[in-house]
Formats: sequence, structure tokens, C-alpha cells
Amino acid sequence: MCISLISSIRRTIVICSFPKIMASRQSSDMAKFREKLKSAKDVVILSGAGISAESGIPTFRGAGGYWRKYQAASLATPGAFRDSPSLVWEFYHYRREVAAKAEPNAGHKAIAQYEAKHGADKKVTVITQNVDGLHVRAGTKNLIELHGNLYKTRCTKCREVLVNNDSPICEALAGRGAPEENVRGSDIPVKSLPHCKKSGCGGLLRPHIVWFGENLDSAVLEKAQAAMHTCDVCLVVGTSSVVYPAAMFAPQAAERGAIVAEFNLEPTPATPDFHFYFEGPCGTTLPVALAD
Ligand SMILES: NC(=O)c1ccc[n+]([C@@H]2O[C@H](COP(=O)([O-])OP(=O)(O)OC[C@H]3O[C@@H](n4cnc5c(N)ncnc54)[C@H](O)[C@@H]3O)[C@@H](O)[C@H]2O)c1
Ligand SMILES: [Zn+2]
Repeated sequence: MCISLISSIRRTIVICSFPKIMASRQSSDMAKFREKLKSAKDVVILSGAGISAESGIPTFRGAGGYWRKYQAASLATPGAFRDSPSLVWEFYHYRREVAAKAEPNAGHKAIAQYEAKHGADKKVTVITQNVDGLHVRAGTKNLIELHGNLYKTRCTKCREVLVNNDSPICEALAGRGAPEENVRGSDIPVKSLPHCKKSGCGGLLRPHIVWFGENLDSAVLEKAQAAMHTCDVCLVVGTSSVVYPAAMFAPQAAERGAIVAEFNLEPTPATPDFHFYFEGPCGTTLPVALAD
């Protein structure tokens, strides 16, 4: 078990496994899970990139994990932005445009409908690692975005955070961001990238995203941890469970006795820790799990 990382609030990729305590008791019995959910008073749904895969948004793992010749996760770092703000802005411009054209899928909608139906008699919280805004567009209200949002910018000088839905976000990025492997280099002068409009500032803007190696916002993290601490049922949807600190949330909840169900295309390092495991596209499995 990665003890040194348990208290870490940095967003880090760690491939390790938790103690395999649940494996022998694990179930894929949907009817049994729905019974548990019915009697729950406090439900958390923890989502990752997999829930948006059926909306056409690439995950960071698997075939879609590359943009040009780069591993997508390697561009989501402060070092990459320092080395080439132009390249990182092209990557985020591409991601903003893809997500803006995407629509929430049956998985996002099932979650929003579940909250609308049960939000009065249960506490329902959605915690997402996603930055694409699709949970909100599906109608989810009680949402914690752990890693920020593609449509927010932060000034590197005055730190102001603003919502920005412009397409393109600046003129120089129009027509840029092509993902094909053979596209070379990125040469937009820094002065032509998005800049802060606050008078007297003019700092370079960056996406308001928690990049790998950066700390999560402590207020956001505390809110998520509080929800994880009180939930009696947790659904873990479309996450590889290797990005910390989110990866430790559900195993910790299972360890203190919450019922945890995982929805994924394939097992993850955390699968053996959970009570239920439902394999398959979550656009198919979630509407069934959350139907009542
Ligand atoms: N949509 C987005 O906002 C987006 C996209 C890519 C990456 N990210 C970021 O990258 C990090 C990646 O970690 P992660 O764990 O969220 O994603 P990940 O890319 O590491 O893993 C995706 C997981 O989803 C599963 N999956 C894929 N399609 C699925 C489907 N249809 N149904 C169910 N499961 C499916 C995969 O098997 C995998 O386990 C996160 O921190 C996130 O912020 C976000
Ligand atoms: Zn500024």
C-alpha cells in the first residue's frame, strides 16, 4: 500500500495496489446493489474520464491518451507550460473545443436524474476528476470538481480565476490544436496567447486546472473528503484509480464500512477493495444501477 501518499494532496499518478481485502466477497449482483442504494441516506458518485468517453472525449489511458506525439498527461504539468505555453495552450484549446461539441451521455444523465429524484430524501454528491463540464450540462447540482474546469482561466500574475467560454479563447489559437501525430511544434508568441484583462495586470493566463504535481485546492479537497467520510454508498465510475488523491477516496470509504461499487470497462488497481464491480460501458450500466 502507498502509505507515503495517503496524506498527499498533490495530483499524482501512482500505480500501486491496496490490500486485497474484499476480493473474495465481491459481487456483480445488480439487484443486490440496488437494494443497498435504496436504503442509503448519503450517496457519493465519484467519476473519472471514463464517464465522458462515450461522449467522445478521450481518456488519458488507452488509445486516446495521446495528443500529437505527446502522452496527454505529460502536457498537463506546470513544467510543460513553463517550457512551451504555446504547446500547452494548443492542447487545452483542442480539449475545450472537443468538450464544447460533446453532449452529456446516458451515464451523466442517469446521475443527474438520480439526484433530481432523490436529492430531497438523500444527500447526493457528485465528485468528479473531470474538467469537461458535462456533469453540469447534464443537470447535476451538488458537484465537486476536484481538478478544475476547462472553461475557467487563472492569471499567472494576479491569480484571478474567471469563467471563459470563448471559442477560440484567443485569435492566435483559431484553427490550432490539431491532434494528429505529424503536426510539428508550436510557435505562437507568448504575447498572442490569452492574457489577463485586469487593468495594470496583463499576466499570462493558464487553464484553471490542477496539473499533475500541483496541489488540489484545499477547500475543494476538504469538501470532497467530508462527503467521502459520511457516505454510506459510493459509486466509482470510469476512473483508473491511479491519480491521487482521488484514487484513495473510495478505498478509504470501503475500509471504514461504506458500500462501494465500481463501474468500469476493466478492473483497476482498486477493484479488489470494493464490494461490487460492474463491468461494461457506464452509459449502459449506470442507468440500470440508478433507475429506482
Ligand atoms: N473528460 C475529462 O474531463 C478528462 C479526460 C481525460 C483526462 N482527464 C483527467 O485526467 C485524469 C485521469 O484520471 P481518470 O481516472 O479520471 O481517467 P483515466 O483516463 O486514467 O482512466 C479512465 C478509466 O475509465 C475507464 N473507462 C473508459 N471508458 C469507459 C466507459 N465507457 N465506461 C466505464 N469506464 C470506462 C477506463 O477503463 C479507465 O479505467 C483525471 O485527473 C482527469 O482530471 C479528464
Ligand atoms: Zn491578472
